[in-house]
Amino acid sequence: MSTPIVKVTDLAWGRLRAPDLDVMEEFLTHFGMVRSARTNNALYMRGSDAPHHIHVTEKGDAKFVGFAYHARSEDDLRKLAALPGASGVETIDEPGGGKRVRLREPNGYQIEVVHGVAELPPITVLRDPPNSGDEPLRRKGRLMRLSKSPTMIKRIAHGVMGTPKLEETVKWFRDTLGFVRSDDVYAGSPDNVIGSFNRLDRGDDYVDHHVFFCIRHEKTGLNHLSYEVPDIDAVMQDHEYLKSLGKYEHMWGIGRHLLGSQVYDYWCDPWGRTHERWADTDRLNTAQGGNLLSAEEGLVSQWGERPPAKFLSNIQP
Ligand SMILES: [Fe+2]
Repeated sequence: MSTPIVKVTDLAWGRLRAPDLDVMEEFLTHFGMVRSARTNNALYMRGSDAPHHIHVTEKGDAKFVGFAYHARSEDDLRKLAALPGASGVETIDEPGGGKRVRLREPNGYQIEVVHGVAELPPITVLRDPPNSGDEPLRRKGRLMRLSKSPTMIKRIAHGVMGTPKLEETVKWFRDTLGFVRSDDVYAGSPDNVIGSFNRLDRGDDYVDHHVFFCIRHEKTGLNHLSYEVPDIDAVMQDHEYLKSLGKYEHMWGIGRHLLGSQVYDYWCDPWGRTHERWADTDRLNTAQGGNLLSAEEGLVSQWGERPPAKFLSNIQP
């Protein structure tokens, strides 16, 4: 395995375009985010964790612009800026500030690698811990009273792309940003990889099972943006809440994935871009290595319905 140019430390945000920022803000508010900033031409939404924003919408025709990732240091930005086709190290002229380098991944989408973006005081979300068979007294003497929906999103977790150029795309993310294989999934013969789950390389630190999932597809674009919520109750209760609004298209869920193990729920924004809310993922470090397994073994749920065709084929340019 070649040494990557850098090892990014986390996903920062997904950047979309939408023609109506009011409608986008309403959807993301129902989805559990809070507005961090709004300018004449863009909307910045945050979760309860400290990052200034975890979702950017620029005003314009509906489009997936790309993903942004946090660099370990400004020095890493300089390393990336030396790559062919990279922007220089730029000052970000947007709320939250910071510096960035803009790259193009093999399908032409913009990859921002950022450093020094502002943080805000975290927002406390009060949730009661659930009792379990093994831990029957986690809530001893207290009553379970869930906070009202929408339960606030905690953080951004992963982004998923479809592309006919799977190998080239995955290789670019691994070689450039330091992603490592969690699970590659094949159909038929093991050399026919159709999906690749990749996580961050933060050494001994434990990270989400995947920060980037790439699927082979005839269409190129975004499959979904994914966000963590505080607990499984928040997945379940906010599913009921979003359903009760009667405004949004439900795409898949609720269920528990096999690869990553999240309890998931997927909804579309008003322009058909899938957004995921989940709780309880597997967390791995570099000691766990990666696996190659078949689609029959890997692309299943531990419980819940199989993904509908409309979810699998929803790749938005
Ligand atoms: Fe996901």
